[in-house]
Amino acid sequence: MDVVGQYIAELGIKAEDGVEALLESMSRKFGRNEAEDYVSNLIGLRRSNPQLFYEEKNADYEKAMLFSGAFDEGILRSACSWLITRKEIFGPTILEIGCDCGFMTCFLGKMFPESKITSIDRGKNGIAIAKRNEQRLGIRNVEFLQTDVKKLKNRAFDTVFSMRTAPENAKKRPVDHIFDNWKLASEGYSHFFEAYARVLRGLTAEKGHVITVERLDKSSILLGWIKALNKAGIIADFDRLAFLEMPEISRPLDLSVIEGSLGERVSIEEIEKKWSAINSFDPAKSRWTDDEVLPALTGKAGRMIRGTRILGQHGEAVGQFACYNVINDPNHFLYLCDSGNSGKQLILFTKDEESDIIENYLAQIKHNKNSGLCAVKLA
Ligand SMILES: C[S@@+](CC[C@H](N)C(=O)[O-])C[C@H]1O[C@@H](n2cnc3c(N)ncnc32)[C@H](O)[C@@H]1O
Repeated sequence: MDVVGQYIAELGIKAEDGVEALLESMSRKFGRNEAEDYVSNLIGLRRSNPQLFYEEKNADYEKAMLFSGAFDEGILRSACSWLITRKEIFGPTILEIGCDCGFMTCFLGKMFPESKITSIDRGKNGIAIAKRNEQRLGIRNVEFLQTDVKKLKNRAFDTVFSMRTAPENAKKRPVDHIFDNWKLASEGYSHFFEAYARVLRGLTAEKGHVITVERLDKSSILLGWIKALNKAGIIADFDRLAFLEMPEISRPLDLSVIEGSLGERVSIEEIEKKWSAINSFDPAKSRWTDDEVLPALTGKAGRMIRGTRILGQHGEAVGQFACYNVINDPNHFLYLCDSGNSGKQLILFTKDEESDIIENYLAQIKHNKNSGLCAVKLA
C-alpha cells in the first residue's frame, strides 16, 4: 500500500458511498435513531451555524471519526498525495490553521518529524479529537492551540498551511456567482477575503510559504482569493496551482492548491492574464463558471435580470437558471437553465412568459429531487 493509503488505514477512517451508507455504518454502532439524529442535526447546522456544526460533529470521538471520515476521506487522500510531491516547501516551523479532527495534522507530523508543527482550531471539541488521534498515532511534534487564528499574534512560521478555512473567514460568504463577469466577480470576492489574507501574511516568516487548499474549482471565488492574497503580499505561483480531483460523498469536486510566497504585489492585469491562460474558456465544457458563456453563445445577452441556483439537502447544486435582457430587444428575454439531468438550455422567450417558465422549471426540479431544496438568489 502507498504511504497515503497506509496513513488512512492507520487513522481508521472510511469514505462512504452517500449519506444513506454513512447512516447504515453509524446505525450499526449507535442504532438508527441516534445515527439519524446526529446526521440530520449536522446537515441542518452546516450552513446555518458552521461553528456549532463543528462542536456538535466533534462532541463524540467515534461519531466524529465516522462522519468526518465519510465526508473527508477523499479530500484527505488528494491533499496528502499532493503534499508528498511538494515536501520541500514545508519548513522547520509549520502553522496549520483549522486542524479540526487532526486528519492533516497527523500526516504533517509523520511527513515532517523534524519540524515543529503548531496546529490551531477555534473549536474545542475538534482539538480534543485531534489530540486523541495524535496520541493514538504516536505523533510527537505537534503543539495544539485552541484559538482563532486572528488572535495569534507575534508569531511567524516558515510554512502557513490552511486547508478549507478561507470561505468561513470571509467577510461575507461567497456564493459561486456563476453568471457574473469573472473579472468583476473576482474583484468583488477579493474584498471579502482581504482581511483573512492579511492575517495569513502576518503569520508568515520573511522567506516563508503560504499554502492554501480550498474546495474550489477554477471559479471567480478562487480568483478572488488569489487576488486577496496578492493584495496582502502573498504572491501565488501560477505555475504551481494544482487542481486535485477528489471524490466526495455528494458530488465530485476539485480541490485547489495555491502555493504563495511573500513578495511585491503583482498587477491585477497580470493576475488576470495568468488566470486566463490556465482557465481558457471552452463553451462546450462550460459549467457556466465563466460568463463569457452567454456572449460567446449568442452575442445577445444584456444584464442579468434574475438568476437562482437551486441547492439540494446537502448543499449540492441541483439546478440553476438565469434570465437576461436581450440587447436592443425589450420584448424578449434570454433564459438559460440547467436542471441537472435534462442538460442545459438557452432559449429566447417573450417577456410575458417569464413567470410561467420559471414556475415550470422549479416544478421540474422539485420533481427530480424531492426534498430539502433551497434557492440561492444570484440576482
Ligand atoms: C472545513 S474544516 C477543515 C478541517 C481541515 N483543515 C480539513 O481540511 O480537513 C474548517 C476548520 O477550520 C476551523 N477554523 C475556521 N476558521 C478558523 C479560524 N479563524 N481560526 C481557527 N480555526 C478556524 C474550523 O473550526 C474547522 O475545524
